[in-house]
Amino acid sequence: MSFHIDANTALYGIIGKPVSHSLSPAMHNEAFRELGMNAVYLAFETDDAKGACLAMRCLGIKGYSVTIPNKEKVVCEIDSPDEPVKRIGACNTIKNQGGRLYGTNTDWLGAVKALEKQTDLKGKDAVVLGAGGSARAVVFGLLERGVEVTVANRTLEKAQRLAREFGCKAIPLPEANNVSAHVLVNTTSVGMGSLKGLCPLSKKGVQNYDVIMDIVYSPLYTELLKRAQEAGKIVITGLQMLLFQALAQFEYWTGQKAPEDSMEKALKMVTGHDTL
Ligand code: ATR
Repeated sequence: MSFHIDANTALYGIIGKPVSHSLSPAMHNEAFRELGMNAVYLAFETDDAKGACLAMRCLGIKGYSVTIPNKEKVVCEIDSPDEPVKRIGACNTIKNQGGRLYGTNTDWLGAVKALEKQTDLKGKDAVVLGAGGSARAVVFGLLERGVEVTVANRTLEKAQRLAREFGCKAIPLPEANNVSAHVLVNTTSVGMGSLKGLCPLSKKGVQNYDVIMDIVYSPLYTELLKRAQEAGKIVITGLQMLLFQALAQFEYWTGQKAPEDSMEKALKMVTGHDTL
């Protein structure tokens, strides 16, 4: 499919800081190309959520992906936040329809779809490590699917607050080594950046779960996932979640089915990974 830009090209983008390493432009531009749509997706490095939403209205930008540090800040800048945005308190996707800004959150769906590709969630239980913004999306998603959720966090009060709000259980982080569940999802930053090589669970603790997912995708195989693989567990990487949340974004903006194979191929190409 040829790719051209003209006066009618629709503009989409990601707003965040930093965004120079974002993988979203590769996926969404490939989707537009595959479907022959006259649209382009760019990365906008900004922490000015209010200004970015004004620009969207003023310039007629069709859609945004929203990332750190703007996910919470945009909620009060949009006209119609949906129920997940209100419950999670964060918006990662905005669409502009005739100057009205609609917001949704596809992170929870990304997490749930990545899990559902590998396992049935119905009637199952899960432990979620962490109690920050990412944990809120994952907990919301699991509860939507009827999963019994326990939140484990370093700062117990934060886990307790989240658990009270969402109606689940809370335990201190080390306790995750002593309880068992079908699913474990790590949403803490342990395993990435300065905490690379560290693991939120002991080798023995890993044995207590059947399916282990890390929302961190750099590195793709965190220490947690390496331990899970060695223990023969079902392993789900952060790139799986990233792909599924992007598919949901594309469908929210365009109303068209996202070309999953092409977007997955683009993600593999840009990250250099053969499998996600
Ligand atoms: P995000 O929006 O990605 O969820 P966040 O809101 O900053 O990011 O949350 C980070 C999570 O990682 C928190 O649950 C944090 O635990 P605390 O609530 O105790 O701060 C967790 N975290 C960060 N560094 C950690 C560490 N060294 N050990 C354990 N948990 C850590």
